[in-house]
Amino acid sequence: MNPIDQRSLDWNSRPGRPLHGSVPVPGDKSVSHRALMLAAIAEGDSRIRGFLEGEDTRATAAVLAQLGVHIETPAAGERVVRGVGLHGLRGTTQSLDCGNAGTGMRLLTGLLAGQAFDSTLVGDTSLSKRPMRRVTEPLASMGARIVAHDGLPPLQVRGGQSLRGIRYELPVASAQVKSALLLAGLYATGETEIIEPHPTRDYTERMLAAFGWPIDFSPGRAKLGGGHALHATDVDVPADFSSAAFFLVAASIVPGSALRLPAVGLNPRRTGLLQALRLMGADITVEHEREAGGEPVGDLLVRHAPLRGIELPEALVPDMIDEFPVLFIAAAVASGRTVIRGAAELRVKESDRIATMARGLRTLGAMIEETADGAIIHGGQLGTGTVESHLDHRIAMSFAVAGLVASGPVRINDCTHVATSFPGFLELANGCGFALQVAD
Ligand code: S3P
Repeated sequence: MNPIDQRSLDWNSRPGRPLHGSVPVPGDKSVSHRALMLAAIAEGDSRIRGFLEGEDTRATAAVLAQLGVHIETPAAGERVVRGVGLHGLRGTTQSLDCGNAGTGMRLLTGLLAGQAFDSTLVGDTSLSKRPMRRVTEPLASMGARIVAHDGLPPLQVRGGQSLRGIRYELPVASAQVKSALLLAGLYATGETEIIEPHPTRDYTERMLAAFGWPIDFSPGRAKLGGGHALHATDVDVPADFSSAAFFLVAASIVPGSALRLPAVGLNPRRTGLLQALRLMGADITVEHEREAGGEPVGDLLVRHAPLRGIELPEALVPDMIDEFPVLFIAAAVASGRTVIRGAAELRVKESDRIATMARGLRTLGAMIEETADGAIIHGGQLGTGTVESHLDHRIAMSFAVAGLVASGPVRINDCTHVATSFPGFLELANGCGFALQVAD
C-alpha cells in the first residue's frame, strides 16, 4: 500500500504473529524541523540526509519556500537548502500554514519575530487549539509584536521590531519555547539566556553550534548573543526515537518477538521511555553506540519480556514527553499498577493525551483513573472495541500496538494524522508482524 492511502482512513489492528526483523523508522522530526530552519538562514548550501518526509516537516519546508528559500529534493529523505543568510528571508502576504506542527509554528514564531516583514502563521484544527502564549509572552518581552486571539493561532507576527536579549526562566519544560527564544535571540541585541526547570532536548543548541553560531549551553541552560552568521553545514538526521517507541512497546508485549531498530537517535533528553520500560522489566539492549551528525545513535534490540507496573519517576517525564500514549498501552497490559504524575503537559499536545488515552483504554475494558497531571493504570487483558484518534498521530499508532494483544480487533477511527510524523507506519508495522489493515 502507498503511504498516501493511510490518509482519511480507519484502521483495524488484530493480534498478529510474533514480531521479527529490522525496522528502519524514519528520521527525527525535531531535528528535521531545526535543520531546515537553520539551513534556510545560513550562508551557503546545506544538505540534510535522513530528513523526515512527514507532513509536519514538509509544512515547515513549504513555509520556508514561501519566505524565498530555495529547497531541492534530490531524493526522498534528502533536502538541499540554499541558505539566504540571516537577513535574506522575504515576506509574503500569504498565510504560512504549519499544518499540525506545534514545533513548526512555535519555532517559526521566534524566527519571524526578528524579521523586517509581517507574517501570519496558521495551523490545522488541532494546532489552532494549542497554547501559544508560552512563546508570544516571552517574545513580547524581547520587543516582539505578535497578535493572537486568546493566545491561540493564527499568529500575526509584526516585523520591523528591534529585539533585545532577555534572561528567561521557563515556567514549563519546553524545548519548543526555548528554541523559539533562541531563534529570536539571533536577531536581538545583547544576550538571550534561557533557564529550564528541567533540561529538554538540546537540538537547537547543538545545531546552532554546528552552524558556527557562538552559543554557551549545558543541560538546563543556554545563552547566545545576536549579530553573528550561520554557515551552511550538512546534517545527518538520526531515526526518530519517538517513532521507534511504538516498536519497543510492541515487541515487549507480544510473546516470542525480537526486533532490531537501526540507527536510532539516543539523545538522553529523548530516551526516558527506554528507562521506564526497563524499570517495567523490558529486555532492550543498545548496540553499536556511535555518533552521527553530532548526535548519539545506536541500534536498539528489543525482545519480548513480561512487563510489570511501576511508579514512574517524575524526573523521566520531560525525557519521554511524546512517548506517554504508548507507555499507557504498556501499562495497560503489564501486571499490576502504573502511576504517572507530573505530566500535565500531555493535556496540551496534539490532543489532550491523558483524556484521549483514558477514553480509548476504557473502551477496551482497561481500568484507568485519570488525574490532573497523569493517570493510574491497572494492567490486565485488553478487549475489542472502536477508539478515536482525536486527530493525534501518536494516539492512533499507540492503539495499533494495543490491537496486537487485545482479545479481538481494535478499530482506530481516523488515522489520517499518522502521516504527520510517521509516513509508512502501516507498511513497516505489517512487515514485522502486525496485522494492521485499513478498515472497510
Ligand atoms: C519538541 C518538543 C516537545 C515535543 C514535541 C517536539 C521539539 O514539545 O512534545 O513533539 O521539537 O522541540 P514541548 O516543547 O511543548 O514540550
